[in-house]
Amino acid sequence: MQDWIAKLFANKELLRMGHHQRLEDQNLGFGWLYYALTRLVRPSVVVVIGSWRGFSPLVFGKGVADNLEPGRVIFIDPSMVDDFWKDPDAVRAHFAGHDVANIQHFLMTTQQFVASEAYRELPHVDLLFVDGYHTAEQAKFDYEAFAPLLTEKSLALFHDSCSDRVSKIYGLENAYRYTVRDFLSELKRDPQLQVFDLPFAEGVTLVRRAETTRL
Ligand SMILES: C[S@@+](CC[C@H](N)C(=O)[O-])C[C@H]1O[C@@H](n2cnc3c(N)ncnc32)[C@H](O)[C@@H]1O
Repeated sequence: MQDWIAKLFANKELLRMGHHQRLEDQNLGFGWLYYALTRLVRPSVVVVIGSWRGFSPLVFGKGVADNLEPGRVIFIDPSMVDDFWKDPDAVRAHFAGHDVANIQHFLMTTQQFVASEAYRELPHVDLLFVDGYHTAEQAKFDYEAFAPLLTEKSLALFHDSCSDRVSKIYGLENAYRYTVRDFLSELKRDPQLQVFDLPFAEGVTLVRRAETTRL
């Protein structure tokens, strides 16, 4: 794992985007959580919505690869920041460069993905990672698109969930304020859910069904 992290962080871009990573002590930050939950849940299907350079799909993919159970990471991103995800060969090479071969990229928004054959064929989703467009409306759309596929063992994670900063990642003219936490306040009022904030860096929030059936 230490060698894998060293290679991951050799790409300085994978140290960005608020996952609380730190190069000096090879600290994956929230990545430990993504990796640990993947080893614990042993998912056959992980869905990751949005990533700038692939930190989260790579760490989930590494966890899936290290499990005995077969699994895949469905990664949905329309490449709205720049062209990084637009060339399928370059995307494959990027992930293969980190020894992860189980990520399937869909160059589309969640809105487009839910209209696809790939969505209709999903049996269930074990881990859902929401890190796309950070408004309450889009976070709600992303969650509700997959909520019917979440089971009693599934977990949903929301990134940038404790922040209300203004992002200019889509250009100055498209600056917008993060409001994911407003949607999570809504989920916190639902007695059928457990919602747990980890307010480090930009924050990650975990959501699962309130049932405590032994898994
Ligand atoms: C900039 S990333 C967020 C940064 C993230 N914290 C990371 O670790 O990379 C957000 C990504 O969401 C994608 N995105 C924006 N709107 C989306 C949508 N409706 N559906 C899916 N992905 C979307 C963008 O293309 C972008 O790559």
